[in-house]
Amino acid sequence: MIIRVRDTPREMNGDVAAAVADAAQAVIERSGRCSLLLSGGGTPRGTYELLAARHRARMDWTHIHLFWGDERFVPHGDPRSNYRMAREALLDHVPCPPANVHPIPTALPSADAAARRYEDTLRAHFPEDRPAFDVALLGLGDDGHTASIFPGSPAVEEADRWVIGVATTAEPSLRVTLTMPALTAAAHLFVLVSGARKASALRHALDPASDPMRYPAAALQSAAGRVVGGPIARPLRIQVRDDNSRFTAITMWSAVKPYSRITTGPGADAPKRSMPMIVPSRPT
Ligand code: 6PG
Repeated sequence: MIIRVRDTPREMNGDVAAAVADAAQAVIERSGRCSLLLSGGGTPRGTYELLAARHRARMDWTHIHLFWGDERFVPHGDPRSNYRMAREALLDHVPCPPANVHPIPTALPSADAAARRYEDTLRAHFPEDRPAFDVALLGLGDDGHTASIFPGSPAVEEADRWVIGVATTAEPSLRVTLTMPALTAAAHLFVLVSGARKASALRHALDPASDPMRYPAAALQSAAGRVVGGPIARPLRIQVRDDNSRFTAITMWSAVKPYSRITTGPGADAPKRSMPMIVPSRPT
């Protein structure tokens, strides 16, 4: 797991967009197509806009398949729809064939029916035992949720289904979400975290001792567990700015193969448990 700390969301989005474009093209050159899982929420919008602008020409959109990690159970035209956000920030600006765009269906009688339909879509695309997305983007809620897997939800422990319908405490309540076995199967997993209000959730998400039922994003560590290389060096305590004008933007990258690496960096007074290595931001 590599964590990059940036000073601004713009820098974070720049990092992620470049890394997503690199990874997508490397996968297409190797296997002819790339499956890219998109996150909902507001944080990734800047990344999508940069993929559509700065990286549009070097990405082979005709060989990229787009999926969603979760969706609010509202019509796709609804301003709260994750599909709509991605369409406005990315899809409307890139030549991705409609047959390659796989939104979570919401025009069905129930969230559970939508989940079952979407699982069929994923199983048709991924013959393996788990949907091995080539590149996946996720976010983090300030309560520690990711996708639409919220604290205390049975969704945290779902081990067989790839997609389920859930009733959450958030607005809108009804949602469709991929489950942890599906989310943690990704070859490259980027978790985008921005804003001081998420500092506590992030610390718990990175802490190997965290209980996923309280901080579901902590379960993403199982994706990152496949890091190769030496023992994790002393971590750096996350500096949280208390004035919202400047806040820390953090990307958690889980590079698996071929370029997992561990680097050492300056650290503050480390807690006694090993925590993921943090790579301080380098001035661009
Ligand atoms: C959703 C997302 C959700 C999101 C977090 C962070 O549908 O809302 O999938 O998991 O990533 O809530 O949201 P922000 O990026 O808006 O802070």
